[in-house]
Amino acid sequence: MATVLAIETSCDETAVAIVNNRKVCSNIVASQIPVHRQYGGVVPEVASRQHVETINDCVAEALQEAQMDWAEIDGIAATCAPGLVGALLVGLTAAKTLAIVHQKPFVGVHHLEGHIYASYLSEPDLQPPFLCLLVSGGHTSFIYVKDCGVYQTLGETRDDAAGEAFDKVARLLNLGYPGGPVIDKLAREGDARAFPLPEGNVGLPGGGYHPYDSSFSGLKTAVLRLVQKLQQQGGEGLPVRDIAASFQESVARSLTKRAIACSCDYNLSTITVGGGVAANSGLRAHLQAAGANRNLRVLFPPLKFCTDNAAMIGCAASDHLSRGHTSPLTLGVQSRLAITDVMQLYQASV
Ligand code: KG4
Ligand code: ZN
Repeated sequence: MATVLAIETSCDETAVAIVNNRKVCSNIVASQIPVHRQYGGVVPEVASRQHVETINDCVAEALQEAQMDWAEIDGIAATCAPGLVGALLVGLTAAKTLAIVHQKPFVGVHHLEGHIYASYLSEPDLQPPFLCLLVSGGHTSFIYVKDCGVYQTLGETRDDAAGEAFDKVARLLNLGYPGGPVIDKLAREGDARAFPLPEGNVGLPGGGYHPYDSSFSGLKTAVLRLVQKLQQQGGEGLPVRDIAASFQESVARSLTKRAIACSCDYNLSTITVGGGVAANSGLRAHLQAAGANRNLRVLFPPLKFCTDNAAMIGCAASDHLSRGHTSPLTLGVQSRLAITDVMQLYQASV
């Protein structure tokens, strides 16, 4: 299997890792969260500049931590889609330059395929087919994983992503950025049954609900109305812990219900979870319990592989490279690209 040096700069982490198949030789993540926190969210231009300033040090650190030199690297990879265009450009340009200078093959990687591959890093025996619930700041998708590069999207959000809902609700509760970890923490001390909130159902024209698609913008609005109502009633300040717990409960229930429906309907006995929201304790508890009830295997990656990192990108790239999939040096970045179109990034190697 191929040893790959991989770069991830699609959003607000500058990350470089060296990976051989499912073995992580080094994993460097320079988070920009403290920089963006003062603005209440990621500022794309600031993210690009930070990546430029940090990327070279991260590459050097990754080689040093792995105790490797360029001769031991078989290919260079970078996330090329989807994500912030300016941020993606920094990592992609660095990777292409390293590939030219060190005469290595170059592999572009789809960010969501990386999140799917995060589950392989801690599960040496995991093989497709399985269902991957992908829940990040930008995506909420139920993906039928058939093989390397072969995916079917069974369901997705019609509006806000799950992580985006956490971030927006945190903002309206004045909890800062990013919202997921702080809501998760407060929810542990709150009553999840304090306020019944909608579970993000998507109605169908003929009646009933879509079995796999969800909508989180209605849930966010319901929290806003609840907050306004509680503020009008006055009292001793907002019951922030109970609101956080009730909101988290709704998201966890919504995602669990749909993941179980997908896995049962498509006969998939393993469910993996990827993306930042996979770190959520409420989702972990709900999905583990529902999976155990139905004899399904439910796998959550360790927290460091849930949020953005380059080890997951390296794992995907190592698999593609070992199958002879490389990308042309003319490959550009794309802010959007469906996971079903991943193979557009590759050409058969000569
Ligand atoms: O996958 P990720 O690191 O970046 C994207 O590709 O978007 O996900 C970031 C998202 C943010 O919205 C953040 O609030 C959320 O993941 N997140 C969480 C938790 N930790 C991070 N959401 C809920 N609970 C958490 N513990
Ligand atoms: Zn991500």
